[in-house]
Amino acid sequence: MTGIYLDHAATTPMRPGVAAAMRQVEEEAWGNPSSPHQVGARARRALTEARARVAARLGYAPREIHFVRGGTEANNLAILGRFAHLRTSAPDDPLPPFGLSALEHSSVSAPASHLEGQGVELVRLPFDAMGRPDRSRLRQCLERGPGLLSVQAVNSECGLALSVEEVLEASAAAGVPVHVDGAQALHMELPKPSGRPLLLSLSGHKLGGPRGIAILAVPSSVALAPLLHGGPQEFGLRPGTEDVAGAVGVAQALEETMEACAVRTGELETLRALLERRAMEATEGVRIVAREGPRSPHIVALGLPGVETEVLLGALDLEGVAASAGSACRSGSSEPGPAVRTFLGPDATTFGILRLSLGWNTTPAEVEEASGILHRVLRRLTRSTIAPSPSKEGSSR
Ligand SMILES: Cc1ncc(COP(=O)(O)O)c(C=O)c1O
Repeated sequence: MTGIYLDHAATTPMRPGVAAAMRQVEEEAWGNPSSPHQVGARARRALTEARARVAARLGYAPREIHFVRGGTEANNLAILGRFAHLRTSAPDDPLPPFGLSALEHSSVSAPASHLEGQGVELVRLPFDAMGRPDRSRLRQCLERGPGLLSVQAVNSECGLALSVEEVLEASAAAGVPVHVDGAQALHMELPKPSGRPLLLSLSGHKLGGPRGIAILAVPSSVALAPLLHGGPQEFGLRPGTEDVAGAVGVAQALEETMEACAVRTGELETLRALLERRAMEATEGVRIVAREGPRSPHIVALGLPGVETEVLLGALDLEGVAASAGSACRSGSSEPGPAVRTFLGPDATTFGILRLSLGWNTTPAEVEEASGILHRVLRRLTRSTIAPSPSKEGSSR
């Protein structure tokens, strides 16, 4: 059993530097940061330093950085917290619409549906396979004065990088706050607020940090209401005793990811191209989702005709290759996600879907081996499903 992990977009192992930094916090600064004694003060200092490191990297003020419990929570807080604030600040006014890209992860599309159930109109913005928004829809959406617009930076299903800057510029001109889900934006420059009303979510475990912690950056110009009620932690936005080790871990992971980004991008592109080539050599009609678009080098989604997704994933797993068909939050569903559905078109459900995602510790040797396994498995599966019929075989002899 080889054990090659190619599902880093679902989660990635913790970086050694992160584990060491967290261990140190657990040994030396494990107190409650709200406690008045010196033990508490040590934890408070560690938390303050972690916040300052994140703020410096992302271009925010430290008090605009909030540590919350996971990317899903960060996205929910940005969206539901924004509309909760709008509701309480003007209880007699109807709520404005919520604009979101049509390709969002469930941690954005599900809170959007929740808002819709409460009477908020959703304006879904189409994006093309080059990552560009439908400009007239964007304009129409902004003219309606949405309470928030949410756009992911990199799509988790196929790695497509969306034109976040274009959305941000247009929205800033219209005075509309934008929330960017940056959970998969590991290999690109993250958008900077630069005076614009930009909310940004990042998830610890996608960066090689701990699971269950995330960053939500909220500029002081944008008001949110908390979704949970308790103490005044995280500047009143997220009550509960802070996870200091988690905060230090995610700060360390963010720094290491940003530093590695420039060095690793070229190498990952080469490794991804090898996987794509071997899949295309194995079987005809392979589609690379959003192939022509700007894609993050760590994710590729393949549409494979004549292949059952579950059978392929099971066969790869048996050979020691861990992969997936898309977002882990959709596991159990054999339906393609919104990006794959959009870009593969009306026939999307006739393709088997394979998402391969590379991580900070993926080696060329692993990808070399995995690409050989992928080739072999695809040959076997496509031969068995599209075997020539006996009459054809006879006539060709
Ligand atoms: C684009 C995107 N947003 C949000 C999330 C949710 O993050 P978490 O797993 O930390 O809740 C994920 C995780 O798959 C993701 O890929």
